[in-house]
Amino acid sequence: MVATKKSGDVRSLVDMQKGLISREVFVSDELYKQELEQVFARTWLFIGHTSQIPNPNDFFLSRMGEESVIMTRDRQGEVHVLLNTCMHRGMKVCRYDEGNTPVFSCPYHGWSYSTDGNLVSVPGELIGVPQFATAYHGELEKEEWGLISVPKMKVYKGSVWACWDKDAPEWEEYMGGMIPYLDVVFDSIDGDPDGREVFVGVHKWSAPHNWKFGAENFIGDGYHGTPTHRSAQLTAGQGIAQGLIPSVTRKTATENLTISFQHGHGVLSSVAPEEWQSRDSLTLESHPDPEIDAYFKNAYEERFRRLGGFGPQRSGGNPSTIFPNMSFGAAAVAFTLAVWHPAGPRTTET
Ligand code: FES
Repeated sequence: MVATKKSGDVRSLVDMQKGLISREVFVSDELYKQELEQVFARTWLFIGHTSQIPNPNDFFLSRMGEESVIMTRDRQGEVHVLLNTCMHRGMKVCRYDEGNTPVFSCPYHGWSYSTDGNLVSVPGELIGVPQFATAYHGELEKEEWGLISVPKMKVYKGSVWACWDKDAPEWEEYMGGMIPYLDVVFDSIDGDPDGREVFVGVHKWSAPHNWKFGAENFIGDGYHGTPTHRSAQLTAGQGIAQGLIPSVTRKTATENLTISFQHGHGVLSSVAPEEWQSRDSLTLESHPDPEIDAYFKNAYEERFRRLGGFGPQRSGGNPSTIFPNMSFGAAAVAFTLAVWHPAGPRTTET
């Protein structure tokens, strides 16, 4: 990494020949502004998971770049992603992280928006204006002043994605070769195609670093693992030793690779060899608790029955990033999913 170059022409900050980048890419105000406009306003972004809003009128607050958005489930069960800004003077209409409400009521002057679009089938429709008859002489065209709905949205196996750019490639084209890896994340371990659930909420924190550190860390740097994650690995090892989870062993080794896909996505580390698609390649250790033992054995058998194998990555690690804002570490038993929300060039909310 080079520490001296200043921003200007972005290309001057990257030395492709030597594989070096200037540290300016992680602190530049000018570059950050370009990223908000050219990356976060134009690419598909991960918003959340439908299991976070299981009931009618549930909502979960998320972000697209620096913009606050509301993921809602309307009264008919449809999922929507709405910009969290009142159409009157721009106040945030939703000020809670998650919950259930039939109406988003703006705290400034009291305009109220539905979550279901029941009146005229428009999500976020404006359904209440205080002093409508006196202040607006009854003439405000309410149907034109609903909350702004994101123009492109996709629900895939429970994951919710959205994009501001109506001319952007379709979701399937944007994801390309990453889709089989997403299947590993969003299919449950027994092979149920969208059997994963988010439960017990999510952890949120704000950290003093550029958003690219997290995204890049999951696909470009397998070097840090042993020293940085030593305490976590010891804890996980203890978990297996104490019988919290059963361990899986293989008769064949993985190939360690870094795979880069179009549009900036990538997968770090191992790709399961062909033999792993065979049931004989896997040995699931017995668990001392008969109930847990039966659960995991049944789940693995079910997965083979439904999918005929374990898919492209089943070695236990496989950190990956969907460019620009979602990373995951998928494993056969559990996984971690992180979302990087930029909050200035030097701050990331995760
Ligand atoms: Fe929302 Fe005025 S800003 S009602």
